[in-house]
Amino acid sequence: MADLSIELFGIRFKNPVWVASGTFGYGIEATRIYDVSKLGAVVTKGISLRPRPGNETPRIIETPCGMLNSIGLQNPGVESFLKELYPQIEKIDTHFIANVFGESEEEYVEVCLALESAHKIVAYELNVSCPNVKKGGIVFGHDPKVLGSLVERIKAKIRKPLLVKLSPNVSDITEFAKVCVDSGADGLVLINTLLGMRINIRKARPELSTKTGGLSGPAILPVAVRMIWQTFERFGFRIPIVGVGGITTHEDALEHIYAGASAVQVGTANFYEPFAPLKVIEGLREFMEREGVESFSKLVGKAHRLDIKGDVNLSQKTLQDSFRKGGDTECRP
Ligand SMILES: Cc1cc2nc3c(=O)[nH]c(=O)nc-3n(C[C@H](O)[C@H](O)[C@H](O)COP(=O)(O)O)c2cc1C
Repeated sequence: MADLSIELFGIRFKNPVWVASGTFGYGIEATRIYDVSKLGAVVTKGISLRPRPGNETPRIIETPCGMLNSIGLQNPGVESFLKELYPQIEKIDTHFIANVFGESEEEYVEVCLALESAHKIVAYELNVSCPNVKKGGIVFGHDPKVLGSLVERIKAKIRKPLLVKLSPNVSDITEFAKVCVDSGADGLVLINTLLGMRINIRKARPELSTKTGGLSGPAILPVAVRMIWQTFERFGFRIPIVGVGGITTHEDALEHIYAGASAVQVGTANFYEPFAPLKVIEGLREFMEREGVESFSKLVGKAHRLDIKGDVNLSQKTLQDSFRKGGDTECRP
C-alpha cells in the first residue's frame, strides 16, 4: 500500500489530507458519521481569548460553485474550549491544529499560551484575516509590517510550530509569504476566503447581514492553485505550504500538490460531500499505487519541474537537485 505519511515542521502526520478551519467544527461532531482518526489532521474552528457570538443572520448564502459566509468567528473562547471540548478531542487518534485569532497581538499570544500544554494540539494556524483594533482596524494579513510584527511576537513566546494562514485579498501574496518566512513562521496555509458580496434583487438589498462575506468552495480552486504556485516558485521547499481552497476530489488536491502544497485541507466540501476528505485520501492512495509513486513527497511541486526560476534562498540547481532526489531533501524548515 502506498505510504501517504508525511513529516512537516518536525511532526509526522499519517497523511497529507486535513480538514479546514470552520468547516469541521472541533472534529468531535463528525465522529458520529465516520472515523475521524483517519484524517491527517483536524484544524479547529477559530479560537479567541473570549467567547464570540458571531454575526447576525443571514450569514451564509450560496453562490455559483461556492458559498459566501460571514459567520463572524463565533466560538466559545479558549477557556471553555479547553474545559468542554478538549477532553473529547483527546480521544480522537489524530493530530489537531488550533486555528487562532485575536483583535490584538496580545490576544493572539494569550490564546497560544493557553494551548501550549494541550498535547493534542500539535501546532497553531494563525487566522490573520481579522482586524487589529489597536492599529485602527487594519486587517493583520493585509499589511506586511503588521503581519511581520505579529508572527515575530508569537514565535518568541511559543514552542509549537506556527503556521500562518494567508489572506488572498492582497495584490501580491508572495510579499506576505516573505514576511512570514523572514519572521520565522514554520509553515504557510494558502488560502483563506476571498472577499465577495451578493445582492438579493427581489429585496434590492445585500444577502448577508454584514453585506460582504468570504467566498469559498470550488469557485476559488484556481485562485488557490495560482497563489500556491507563485509562492512555491519564489520560496521552493524553504517553507512548507498547506493548500486549501476549492478541494472536493483527489484530482483537485493534486492540483494544489503539483503547484507546491506539501499537505492539503478540505473545507466547504465537508458541507455538501461529508465523506470528501476520506475520498481524497483514498483517491491519492490509489493514484500513487497506479502510477508507482512510492513517496508522497515526490508529487510536491511536480508541475514546476521544467519551470523553476530560482528564489531568494535556493538556487535553481539546489532546487532541481532536490527534485531529482525525490523532492523531500529541503522540505524541512
Ligand atoms: C463557514 C466557514 C467558516 C470558516 N471559518 C474559518 C475560521 O474560523 N478560521 C479560518 O482561518 N478560516 C475559516 N474558514 C476558511 C476555510 O478554512 C478555508 O480557508 C476556505 O473556506 C477555503 O477553502 P474551501 O474552498 O475548501 O472551503 C471558514 C470557511 C467557511 C466556509
